[in-house]
Amino acid sequence: MSETVQLPDSVDLVDEPNGPVLRIDHDRATGEIHLHGAHVTSWAPSGSRDQLWLSPESEFGPGSAIRGGVPICFPWFAKGPGDWEPQHGFGRRLPWRLHHAGEDDHGVTIALRLASSDVPDGTEGRDRWPYEFTAQFSVTFGDTLTLSLTVANCSDQPMPVGGALHTYLAIPEIERLSVRGLDGVSYQDKVAGGEDEQDGPITFTGETDRVYAGSGVVVLADGDTSLGAVRNTGVRHTVVWNPWSAKASAMPDFPDDGWHGMVCIEAAVPYDAAVVVAPGEKCTFGQQIVPASA
Ligand code: BG6
Repeated sequence: MSETVQLPDSVDLVDEPNGPVLRIDHDRATGEIHLHGAHVTSWAPSGSRDQLWLSPESEFGPGSAIRGGVPICFPWFAKGPGDWEPQHGFGRRLPWRLHHAGEDDHGVTIALRLASSDVPDGTEGRDRWPYEFTAQFSVTFGDTLTLSLTVANCSDQPMPVGGALHTYLAIPEIERLSVRGLDGVSYQDKVAGGEDEQDGPITFTGETDRVYAGSGVVVLADGDTSLGAVRNTGVRHTVVWNPWSAKASAMPDFPDDGWHGMVCIEAAVPYDAAVVVAPGEKCTFGQQIVPASA
């Protein structure tokens, strides 16, 4: 399965009951990334708490989608053009291969790969998106968390690529959270239905599921206390999601009160705005998480 990759001192590959996990323990940060879904489940810059929220009720087995951390939605976001299953594509439900692990004074970089040849016959959704591809996900665990997904088209026809880096941030309390940086940006409101335009900072008083037609840097605060920033690159949309109480209770892998302590800020490429990659070409989506102290 995985190529033979030399691990630096600050990285261990551990076979857990939940599957193989790379554990990072470096002067600058600790972290964890599962080969299943190339899924980052933990990142704590030195001297700081874990910046990512992970559900204690998450599933981890083959075919499942881990709840929390950084799910990679690929090759489509949500239901694709309308009714595609599985939600958020098949990439987060498959094992990826370790391709590279390196360290320097600033942190640890891990690269994992998924190619069309790694997608088993019969994988749900593969018939919807039959292209030949290689995807590489690179993560640097340091004072900041830097995420980058590059997808290459190995087919002989144009290949639409959608998806998201669906980051779950751990926050003190959603009811005190404000998110700045999307003022004046129009959004699709998936709870109320229809379109609206953001007026001032985003605050949260109920289920929130919005696809903003804008991207760049957003800044988070807990009341007057800065929580840091999220910088999206290579995408034109930002998704902001919190399920609130009723939806959280209805999800089997989500604690009933878990919604208080999380928010998703996603670097997103909805399928109706998919990047069409020419044969032999690549596209890259990225996100950087900058904690308040960095
Ligand atoms: C968000 C979507 O990106 O992901 C929401 O906008 C969705 O509609 C949420 O509920 C979680 O999706 P899932 O498939 O991980 O439960």
